[in-house]
Amino acid sequence: MLKSKLPNVGMTIFSQMSALANQYDAINLSQGFPSFDCDPYLKQQVNHYVNNGFNQYAPMPGMPELQQAIADLVSNQYELNISAAEQVTVTSGATEAIFVAIQTLVHPGDEVIIFDPAYDSYEPAIDLAGGKCVHLSLSSPDYRINWAEVERCMTSRTTAIIINSPHNPTGSILGEEDIIALKDLLSRYDIHIISDEVYEHIVFDGQVHHSVLRYPELAEKSFVTSSFGKTFHVTGWKIGYCVTPPDLTAEFRKIHQYVTFCTLAPMQKALADMMNKNPQHIPGLGAFYQHKRDVFCEHIKDSQFKLLPCHGTYFQLLDYSAISDLPDTEFCNWLTKVHKVATIPLSVFYQTPPDSRVIRVCFAKDDETLKQAAEILCQV
Ligand SMILES: Cc1ncc(COP(=O)(O)O)c(C=O)c1O
Repeated sequence: MLKSKLPNVGMTIFSQMSALANQYDAINLSQGFPSFDCDPYLKQQVNHYVNNGFNQYAPMPGMPELQQAIADLVSNQYELNISAAEQVTVTSGATEAIFVAIQTLVHPGDEVIIFDPAYDSYEPAIDLAGGKCVHLSLSSPDYRINWAEVERCMTSRTTAIIINSPHNPTGSILGEEDIIALKDLLSRYDIHIISDEVYEHIVFDGQVHHSVLRYPELAEKSFVTSSFGKTFHVTGWKIGYCVTPPDLTAEFRKIHQYVTFCTLAPMQKALADMMNKNPQHIPGLGAFYQHKRDVFCEHIKDSQFKLLPCHGTYFQLLDYSAISDLPDTEFCNWLTKVHKVATIPLSVFYQTPPDSRVIRVCFAKDDETLKQAAEILCQV
């Protein structure tokens, strides 16, 4: 009998809820993907490159023009100078970048601190590296990191901390005080950061995204991961990247080359063209999704659901304690089957869930779908 390497892992809740949404013909606000299409120019360029011979392996670290476009973007946005060739690696989604960063850092017995509620790919990757995942909870009600608790959990085996801002599933973002705390921690402990910044361009209400890349003391110890899926509405392409200093990049690529070796060539070329031809897309993304958040929130404000603060990402948390005492997974199943709106229970993002009644809604949907879903939720 095969001995499972991930005995506690089953089908993800995202696949389960999407299947249930299909089965009950429900509006699917569960899985995090846009219901609208990408820019036609991107598709046109993919077609162009597929039809003009770009169908073989891309270079292992990425197409040079895409590496350069990423380096330019990052350098402008976060006011630092990075080398496209030595610091940018294109990966098959941020998921691969996170997986490879974890394999690069974690040796058997090492501990990695993550914050619950946490994106679901971190822990299995740590387990596969033979590491130990140390779960700390973000503090309610605003889902902030308790840095005193982080300090208490540091041991001689702590090798890394994984942070995620803007944060899936809560929509919280790191503030300046978090950066100060992180700098202080790094000045005293020899650890690395994996900074999952896939929603870096989706920040609301004029707030600033505190990328670790803005701070040289943090950047020199960090693997920063991002996703073109989120930025250009192409989650199905699974293209992302990792930015890290040259010495860490060299180690990262040793593993990346044996995980996927390289990423889809025509898509990389098309994304590079898109970034060069349409530099306005990225700065407009925050306002684009803020509008969607506001449409949804405006239409649901008279319901029994309580809206929790959302500063970024395309997720909104809803507290349903005024409606039901059901545990969140049962509530989500009921909502899908009876009211035909699929959402995600917050508890699945925790090792030890708190006793709360909160669900996650994805608002990366066209306005009509958001209004229709909100109208239904107002009847619940
Ligand atoms: C927080 C977070 N990190 C990483 C990823 C993975 O991104 P990708 O689809 O590019 O692999 C996601 C996707 O939902 C995410 O929400």
